[in-house]
Amino acid sequence: MNSLMETTGRATSRQTLPGRYYTDVAWFNAEMDRVFAAMWIAVCRVDRIASRGQFVRRDVAGASVLIIGDGHGCARAFHNVCRHRGTRLCATDSGEFAGSIQCPYHAWTYDLEGRLIGAPLMDDVEGFRRDAHPLQRVACEVWDGHVFINMSAQPTPLAAQLGDLPERFAPWGMADLRMAHRVEYDVKANWKLIVQNYNECLHCPIIHPLLNRMHHYLGAANVPSTETYCGGAMGLRDGVDTLSIDGVRRRALLPGLTGGDRTRVNYFAIYPNFLLTLHPDYMLTITIWPEAPNRTRLVGEWHFHPDEIARPDFVFADAVEFWDVTNREDWAISERSQQGISSRGYQPGPYSNRETQLWEFDEFVLSRVQSQ
Ligand code: FES
Ligand SMILES: [Fe+2]
Repeated sequence: MNSLMETTGRATSRQTLPGRYYTDVAWFNAEMDRVFAAMWIAVCRVDRIASRGQFVRRDVAGASVLIIGDGHGCARAFHNVCRHRGTRLCATDSGEFAGSIQCPYHAWTYDLEGRLIGAPLMDDVEGFRRDAHPLQRVACEVWDGHVFINMSAQPTPLAAQLGDLPERFAPWGMADLRMAHRVEYDVKANWKLIVQNYNECLHCPIIHPLLNRMHHYLGAANVPSTETYCGGAMGLRDGVDTLSIDGVRRRALLPGLTGGDRTRVNYFAIYPNFLLTLHPDYMLTITIWPEAPNRTRLVGEWHFHPDEIARPDFVFADAVEFWDVTNREDWAISERSQQGISSRGYQPGPYSNRETQLWEFDEFVLSRVQSQ
């Protein structure tokens, strides 16, 4: 672990990280331990697990976690591990438990609160008590419809990690929005390159001909970064009303928006795994699931106001196509970054003054991994 504690000498020169931070398995594992398994991470929307027993499974940071809806707009989360001999309880990504969870090996059975309610042949074992073997709880909280989990033993409240974001984004009424479309992407790049790419638009004129018609690439107004997020807003060009395939807005403005929020797009990277993009008429969320130093799974979801979804002429393909094209451009260049950074000729390079957020994100990762 000593090599992880090396100082990078970055305090005086704002340079990109050395290659090992994008390729080394020990460093990756340390990031999973000290960032992904130690902070609140976004897992899904609460409408995905709206009814009691509906669940999603998320595998990350060497863990598999079941997030189960309670039927009241909240959720419980448990490690997906049987308390008998450790078997993975559930192998499917999502579904619905009919009141209980049964291990497929020897039929130990748990209720939806994680209590062990059935353990065949165990009553003969001296001193055995069912209540001593509940599923291992994982902290779970909901912010405005977004479900987060935290695997650390004594997590701080989610609100402490979010800071002023709940207040900042209240006008979008995110809890009311409903998912209309979802795309999963398998990207051969380190998770940090995905976050970094999201946080700058210097590449927009070159990589994104379509996006560049909607925004001026130097038009971002960033808010000061904090220890847990960075982001800002970008105005839309004249004649552009939202980010859609042609800049036309085919849905009503979100009802809580006033003033400039009706003509801007907010881009926030909420560390470590949540990219939140808020448009005048819809929300795009991307969650980040690192699988290896050079491999990341991404889940993109498009969310709209239910009044719009209910309209007979509701359309969303314009928003999905816009971002699917743009996302794939980003993933492709991130893969090329990974290739270059992984190769023998790579040396750290200087960040421009418009890449401050990237350097700050690097500092966030370094401080989390090295300080514990
Ligand atoms: S390992 Fe689950 S019941 Fe035996
Ligand atoms: Fe981009």
